[in-house]
Amino acid sequence: MCGIVATIGFREAAPLLLQGLQHLEYRGYDSSGLATLTSNQLHCCKAEGKLAHLWEKLEKTPVAGCCGIGHTRWATHGKPDARNAHPQLDEANQVAVVQNGIIENHRLLRQRLEQQGVHFRSDTDTEVIPHLVAQALKDLGGTVPPTSLLRLAVAQAVQQLQGAYALAVIWLGQPKELVVVRYRAPLVVGLGEGQFFCASDTPPLAGVASSIVSLEDGEMARLTPLGVELFDESGQRTQRTPQPLRGGDYTADKRQFRHFMLKEIHEQADVAAAWVERCLETTAEESLTTVLRNVERVQILACGTSRHAALVGAHLLEQLAGIPSSVHYASEFRYAPPPLLPHTLTIGVTQSGETADTMAALTIEMERHRALEPGTPPRLLGITNRIDSSLGRQAPHILDLKAGVETGVAATKTFLGQMLAFYAIALHLASQRHEASAQVRACREALAQLPEQLSQVLRTMDQCCADLAHRFAETRSMIYLGRGINYPIALEGALKLKEISYIHAEGYPAGEMKHGPIALLDQHVPVVSIAMPGPVFEKVLSNAQEAKARDARLIGIGPVCGDTEIFDVLLPIPPVHELVSPLLTTVPMQLLAYHVAAHRGLDVDQPRNLAKSVTVE
Ligand code: M6R
Repeated sequence: MCGIVATIGFREAAPLLLQGLQHLEYRGYDSSGLATLTSNQLHCCKAEGKLAHLWEKLEKTPVAGCCGIGHTRWATHGKPDARNAHPQLDEANQVAVVQNGIIENHRLLRQRLEQQGVHFRSDTDTEVIPHLVAQALKDLGGTVPPTSLLRLAVAQAVQQLQGAYALAVIWLGQPKELVVVRYRAPLVVGLGEGQFFCASDTPPLAGVASSIVSLEDGEMARLTPLGVELFDESGQRTQRTPQPLRGGDYTADKRQFRHFMLKEIHEQADVAAAWVERCLETTAEESLTTVLRNVERVQILACGTSRHAALVGAHLLEQLAGIPSSVHYASEFRYAPPPLLPHTLTIGVTQSGETADTMAALTIEMERHRALEPGTPPRLLGITNRIDSSLGRQAPHILDLKAGVETGVAATKTFLGQMLAFYAIALHLASQRHEASAQVRACREALAQLPEQLSQVLRTMDQCCADLAHRFAETRSMIYLGRGINYPIALEGALKLKEISYIHAEGYPAGEMKHGPIALLDQHVPVVSIAMPGPVFEKVLSNAQEAKARDARLIGIGPVCGDTEIFDVLLPIPPVHELVSPLLTTVPMQLLAYHVAAHRGLDVDQPRNLAKSVTVE
C-alpha cells in the first residue's frame, strides 16, 4: 500500500528519497512522486506506474535540495495517474504533503474549501491537507515563532481530519524543516549521521539510519538538519529513547532466485526448522503460557492468507486441545462482533502487523476484554512477522513469526510460520489441559519429521510444478478442493493463483462441490484436489472421481499409492499424519501459482492492485 519516505540533513534529498522508495516498492503501488526544497523553490516531480518512470522524469528534470518528501501511492481516491500521485500541493505551490491512509471527511472539507474559493487539482482525499495547512499558516503567521509555525499549522490542519493517516509536510517558508504526524497509520523516524529520516516502514531506513523511534498515534515530529523534536497529541515536547536499527534485519536479497516469492517459498525449510523446535519445547514461551491460562474458547481475527492460517489453527485447537474455536474475517467482525464470553482468548493474525481491518477489530476486542475482565490485561495474543509493527506495539502478548523479511506481496513463508504458530499454541494448550491423546503424540512425532520432509518436497516439487505450469497458460478458471484440515489449504491455493496469475480460482470443501460448483466443471476447468490419508481420504477421492466424470483434468496432491492413480497428474507428498499435512500440501499450491504466473510473464513479486500491507479499510 502507499509508502512515505522523508529526509532532511546535509545530503541531496532526491537520491535518498528514491532509494527509500525502492525499499517500499514491495508494498504495492501504482504511481510515485517526490518534492524537495531549496531556499527559494519547491520542486515536485510525479509519475504514473513504476518507480522507473519517476527516475526517467527526474533524469530529464533533476530536483535539488536537502529536504524532501517522497511517496508511492496505491490508488484509493482517483485514478492512479500523475495528477493524483503525491505529493499534493496547495494553490501557491508552497506546501507539499504526502499521506498514507484515508481522510474520511475529505468530501465535506473539500466542499468547504471550494466554497471559500480554493481550486482543487486532483481527485484525492489528500489534497485537502495542503490547502488546510496553507490556510493555517496564513492564520497563524506573525502570532507564533517562525520555528513553530509549520508544526502548529499542521496540528491545526489535522484537528480537522477524520480517518487514519500518516503525513509528511514541507513548506517553502521554512525550507530547513519537515513535519510528520501519525494517526492510526505507521510512521517511523530514523536517525542517521547528520541526516534524519521518516518512513512508513522500516526497510527504507536500513543502512541510512542507525536508530529509530516509532511514532505513537497523535504524535508529531519536527525534523531539521540539527535533529528531531517529538511532540505528543497535546503539542507538548516529549522524549523517547531511540531503538538501534540493525540493517541486516530489513535487507532483502533475491540470491540466486528469479523472484523473491520463489526464494521465500524455499526459505520455508528454515522457518519450519525454527518453529518445530518452538513447538516441541516442553515449556512454552512465557508470554504464551500466561495468555493461555484458563482459556475456554478462542476467536481468531484475520484477513486473506492469514485467515487461512487461522482456519488451520482453529482445526488444531479443536482437535488437539479440545477448545471451541471460531475464525472471523476481521473486516466483518469489526462491524458485528459476536458476544464476548469470559475466558475467551482473542488471537489476531497478520504478517504485516498493520492490516487496518485486523487492527480495528483487535482494538474493539481489547476494549471489550477490559470491560469483561477488568483489572487483568486483555486476553489477546497477536501473531505477526513484524514485531516493530502497530500490532507488535499494541498487543499485550505477541508471537513473533521470525520468518525473516518477506518481500513478495504474496504471503508464503509467513503463511507457513502462522500455521506453525498455531501448532505451538494448540500443543501447549493441550498440555496445559493435560490432553495427552494419541493425536497429540502423533502430531508431535510427525512435527519432528517435518523439516526434513519439507526440504525434500521443496527439492522435488519445484520442477514438477514448473513442468505443469505451461499446461495452464490458457486456463481461465480452476477449482481447488480439500477437506478437514486441508480445506483452508484449498482456499489458500486458489487465493495464491488468483493473486499472482490473475486466473479465476475458487477453493471449496470437497464435499460441497456437488451442491453447486460442480455445474462449472468441464474439460476447460482443471480441478486440484488435496488427498492426504486420514479419515476423509476415501471421501476426497470420490469427490475427485465426480469431477473426473465431468471431464475435468485432475491434479492430485497426495502420496504416491494405488488410490491416487485416478489423478491425471500427481504432485507427490510423503505420507504424513493428516494433522501436519497442511505444512506440506501448501508447498505445491504456492509453487503451482508461482510457476503459472512466471510462465505467463507476470510481475510475480508485485502483482497488480495488491499491497503487502493493507493499511486502509
Ligand atoms: O498482513 P496481513 O497478514 O494482515 O495481510 C492480510 C492479507 O492482506 C494478505 O494475507 C493478502 O491476502 C496477501 N496478499 C496474501 O498473499
